[in-house]
Amino acid sequence: MTLVRSGCTLFLALGAALAAPKPTFYKDVQPILERNCVSCHRPGEAAPMAFLNYKQVRPYAAAIKMSVSQRRMPPWNADPHIGQFSNDRSLPEVELKTLIDWASTGATEGNPKDAAPVNREFAEGWSIGKPDMIIEMPEAFTVPAKGTIEYHYVVLPTGFTKDTWISAAETRPMNRAVNHHIIAFVREPGSRWLRDAVPGKVFIPTKGSGEGSASGFLTGYAPGTVPSQMKPGQGILVKAGSDIVFQLHWTANGTEAQDKAKLGLILAKETPKERVLTLQAINTRFEIPAGADNHPVDAKMTLHADTTLEALIPHMHVRGKAFAMKVKLPNGDIQDLLHVPTYDFNWQLSYLLKESKKLPAGSQILATGWFDNSTNNKFNPDATKVVRWGDQSWEEMMIGFFAISVPVETPVIDILRPKKKAPVSPSAGGLD
Ligand code: HEC
Repeated sequence: MTLVRSGCTLFLALGAALAAPKPTFYKDVQPILERNCVSCHRPGEAAPMAFLNYKQVRPYAAAIKMSVSQRRMPPWNADPHIGQFSNDRSLPEVELKTLIDWASTGATEGNPKDAAPVNREFAEGWSIGKPDMIIEMPEAFTVPAKGTIEYHYVVLPTGFTKDTWISAAETRPMNRAVNHHIIAFVREPGSRWLRDAVPGKVFIPTKGSGEGSASGFLTGYAPGTVPSQMKPGQGILVKAGSDIVFQLHWTANGTEAQDKAKLGLILAKETPKERVLTLQAINTRFEIPAGADNHPVDAKMTLHADTTLEALIPHMHVRGKAFAMKVKLPNGDIQDLLHVPTYDFNWQLSYLLKESKKLPAGSQILATGWFDNSTNNKFNPDATKVVRWGDQSWEEMMIGFFAISVPVETPVIDILRPKKKAPVSPSAGGLD
């Protein structure tokens, strides 16, 4: 008995000497939450609960421990061994351990005097800072309580009388409970896309309501997305007389609700040197067999001019399981760009390259998505159906969006199409 007791004391003494002091909220935890979590976990942002003070955080201590140890929070799905991304949200190992230790040792408050000054510089309601210009739907849309809601579009004139360069763009819903996503496109003057839409009114395209497509992607909103923010010297061009087109996807959640989308723009102070464009490696012709649990679909796009790769944005729906992007250089070399081993439809993440990558003309972006159409996939609404391309979330998409920059002088058409060969002498002609 005595032996055991003394053994115990010894163990306790050793334990106390070896163990780091118990982490406290103010000293250890709050700074981690401020850096990694409150961008979403504060009022008006994506997460349903705020983590701004001890009272708010304490009830979630166990949930925090669970979600960070499973690497569900913060949302970030890229394989850390492939590519490096400037917006990498994954928690460093030490911070992960501190959060877990804190939750496991009683989630104590500690002394408020230990708190580092909290440096929150969130512009109210916007994460790009105060916009120079806000373009907003003039009236709210009533989202019905039930049923499937087609994609709606709203055309809103910019009123730009001259070509305008954008250095940041952010789009936001009013009601995140029913807003599944918003994409803000640019429609250049003369485009026939959605030509029957009345500006400011929601519109559902039908056959014949306008051929063509968007002239450009500006920015998007979905859980986990980051707004489009250009590096110094870069911008997105919106030509004079262009319209903004919102593509809106609402999902009924059992209660009728109102929603409205808005777009905030920060205008470039001077003409940028480089233009940023979002392109896509897309495949609309696929069939995912019923029950298939790992069905690959490929997509690719060739870049016919010299470009610089800036960002990668995988897009699939609920059967999306994994995603990879690579580049095939003109010399035939294939390089890995991104691997998302566990794709999660709920998080539409963009991966911004830490170091942008020069791609010589003729490079090809390759994307592969793997789909799980089996009953193993808990998000699968119906494992007995063959699934094809479509807008709705029970249909599928296979798009590897990517952003590139090019010198402003590069005509977009030169990127998309092979350059016409120089005219050959008439005697050799006839083949082109
Ligand atoms: C990009 C936005 C974002 C960031 C950054 C983020 N969260 Fe979340 N978090 C959410 C959203 C949205 C939900 C609710 C939806 C869900 O549960 O998936 C959520 C839910 C949670 C939940 C409750 C549900 C669960 O999954 O256990 C916890 C706990 C949580 N987050 C902890 C954290 C912590 C800790 C951090 C930082 C280390 C963090 N989150 C960073 C958006 C974010």
